[in-house]
Amino acid sequence: MATNRLAEQVALVTGASRGIGAVIAQRLAKEGAKVAINYQASKEAALQVVRGIVDAGGEAVVLPGDVSKEKDAETLVKSVIEQWGRIDILVNNAGITRDRLLLRMTVEDWDRVLEVNLRGAFLCTKYVMPHLIRRRQGRVVNISSVVGIGGNPGQANYAASKAGLIGFTKSVAREVASRNITVNALAPGFIDTGGMVDQMTEEAKKTVLGRIPMERFGNADDVAEAVSFLCGKGAGYITGQVITIDGGMVG
Ligand SMILES: NC(=O)c1ccc[n+]([C@@H]2O[C@H](COP(=O)([O-])OP(=O)(O)OC[C@H]3O[C@@H](n4cnc5c(N)ncnc54)[C@H](O)[C@@H]3O)[C@@H](O)[C@H]2O)c1
Repeated sequence: MATNRLAEQVALVTGASRGIGAVIAQRLAKEGAKVAINYQASKEAALQVVRGIVDAGGEAVVLPGDVSKEKDAETLVKSVIEQWGRIDILVNNAGITRDRLLLRMTVEDWDRVLEVNLRGAFLCTKYVMPHLIRRRQGRVVNISSVVGIGGNPGQANYAASKAGLIGFTKSVAREVASRNITVNALAPGFIDTGGMVDQMTEEAKKTVLGRIPMERFGNADDVAEAVSFLCGKGAGYITGQVITIDGGMVG
């Protein structure tokens, strides 16, 4: 159901051409926000997300850019301001994995995951923040992971990036709290976006489900719902927090 919870608000969602980011973008648009859909490579997929939003009566644009590149992050934010004259919400969702056990992990595997997942969030936040501070309002939501809390074999680089994002969230939250800006992190568990979970064998699925007290995988709507809540007026006194969305797995 569409609401006006985020009417007049402008949001930038990174990595929103598919998966969780696309659903977050659709959700924020449904709540009345104008949404910039950032993508790195898949323009057609990003355009499809925009079409879906526009067809549903919302407003959205696509913005290309690699969040790990400073120039791209700066241009991304500039483009949102040129388009709508303001920015209120940043969702740092863009993320990648390059899974390997530590002994096989290359320096490139390590660097690239940290660059996209952590440096990318830093750069986008850095360039968005002056606009939020000027208007003394804003919301930043960082998509971390339960792996950043509990660790996971084969994901030392990813876990480090997601744990780093939590430290980043808590620090920036303290820096900007007096300006009426909130900064929070979400830590999803196993979210079925039609990719990784679909490719698991039935046995692997069973093993994973056995570790989830709610006995089901999460879906992108579970994450989008929490983003929408954190961006709304009702969450104005919540900052520096990490909310796990994992069916009770990590607790
Ligand atoms: N799916 C899960 O189970 C799960 C669990 C916990 C956390 N997460 C996190 O949620 C976020 C979204 O995950 P997803 O499963 O939808 O992944 P996905 O691979 O489906 O989507 C990731 C998006 O990020 C974009 N992206 C990648 N590198 C980029 C870059 N350098 N610049 C800009 N965009 C870039 C991709 O193009 C894509 O649109 C990620 O940060 C991921 O770590 C996912």
